[in-house]
Amino acid sequence: MIQYVVSGPTRLYGECRVQGAKNSALPVLAASLLAQGESVFGRIPAISDVDATLEILKSLGCRIRFENGEARVDAADAAGTEIPDALMRELRSSVIFLGAILARFGSVRLSMPGGCEIGQRPIDLHLHAMRKLGAAVDDAGGRIVCTAPGGLTGADIRLSFPSVGATENVMIAAATAKGTTTVYNAAREPEISDLADCLNGMGASITGAGESTIVIEGVKKLRPARHTVLPDRIVAGTLLSAAAMTGGEITLRHVVPAHLGPVVEVLEQAGCRVESDLHTLHLVSPRRLRAVGHVRTMPYPGFPTDLQAIVTAALCTAAGTSVVTETIFESRFRYIGELTRFGAVIRTDGRMAVIEGVERLTPTGVAAPDLRGGAALLLAALAADGESVIANGELIERGYEDPAATFGALGAGIKREVCCENRGCENCGGGSEADA
Ligand code: UD1
Repeated sequence: MIQYVVSGPTRLYGECRVQGAKNSALPVLAASLLAQGESVFGRIPAISDVDATLEILKSLGCRIRFENGEARVDAADAAGTEIPDALMRELRSSVIFLGAILARFGSVRLSMPGGCEIGQRPIDLHLHAMRKLGAAVDDAGGRIVCTAPGGLTGADIRLSFPSVGATENVMIAAATAKGTTTVYNAAREPEISDLADCLNGMGASITGAGESTIVIEGVKKLRPARHTVLPDRIVAGTLLSAAAMTGGEITLRHVVPAHLGPVVEVLEQAGCRVESDLHTLHLVSPRRLRAVGHVRTMPYPGFPTDLQAIVTAALCTAAGTSVVTETIFESRFRYIGELTRFGAVIRTDGRMAVIEGVERLTPTGVAAPDLRGGAALLLAALAADGESVIANGELIERGYEDPAATFGALGAGIKREVCCENRGCENCGGGSEADA
């Protein structure tokens, strides 16, 4: 178990280069399975979701090397068609392998991806799409078996919701299907366009990514990829929000400002000054943020659900009352109970949170309920006056590369501690081992 010990309050100040995007890295790594040779990916973040994705590729027979942000995946000898249950549970987005394994081997077996973290996360849209592409799908008893021994065939696929993962699965599966696939109501997130760029670099023929209709002309085979992933807009939004909440000033390098439009808009409403050029964002925050109008999460280009918890945390100390509504996932407010332990005043009503800004937060001990909820708690701890401890820090590390180093370089007092249940620690009964 990992815990983060944070000594606040900190005014975040300085410059930071933003890591590569988790939500681009996972699908492009899965897509590498389609090429019989070594693919090379740049700016892959060192986070545990990437580690789990590489483990899945290894379990399928790929040779892997990952150092200094470069991941090499040699899928020439890949042979497996089944993802072990333990790995499916570890990584909720493991379902992204469905299309890749099916397209390469004509069959795939997996268990339902792990339980409830931020909502039910059903995969009916993924399975519907695979059926449309001609696969036989059996999903009885929590196990999923898809077969298409004669290969997949292009089809018109209309998604009832612009699911990011289902859109990606179709793009990967249809890249080598016979004929043309058209996806209507496709997700438009930047990571969809990044995956299309990667697949097109491998020889696929995909147009319309980033728009609601994507057309995939199936090609016979794909060559290995050489691709560098996008900057992580959610990590960038987290750093901007952290600087805003702590009265700080921050320059982010290696970002795509256009991908951060909705969060920048909210932070500007809250009183921050934000300037941008091609790959840089500079934020100067006021001494205290002010409350903002209604923030509602929406599919891209709307306000991202992955920044909902983070912006809610930032608004906890804003002057006035803010309202945040979550429309994408049904149970993404689990962190709110923990935020109130810092003295935040938040009422929830279904999918709506009403935040009465308080002047200051008090330090406390909390547990991260999930990745982004954990990051929200980290923000609160940075603003609180004294030492806070965030348990379940390993959940934060699913998506943030070395948080202690990132926030430490911006002036935060933050320490990562490994609590060993065998030897025990303060949480689990004895000493603790400092690790950063
Ligand atoms: C991806 C992102 C995640 C982000 C989310 C929404 C990755 C690895 N993860 O997750 O960080 O929060 O997009 O922007 O890229 N749904 C169904 N049936 C399905 C699939 C989805 O009902 O078959 C529902 C989900 O329950 C949810 C909504 O659609 O309510 C959005 O899910 P989706 O866009 O698929 O999210 P993910 O791809 O899982």
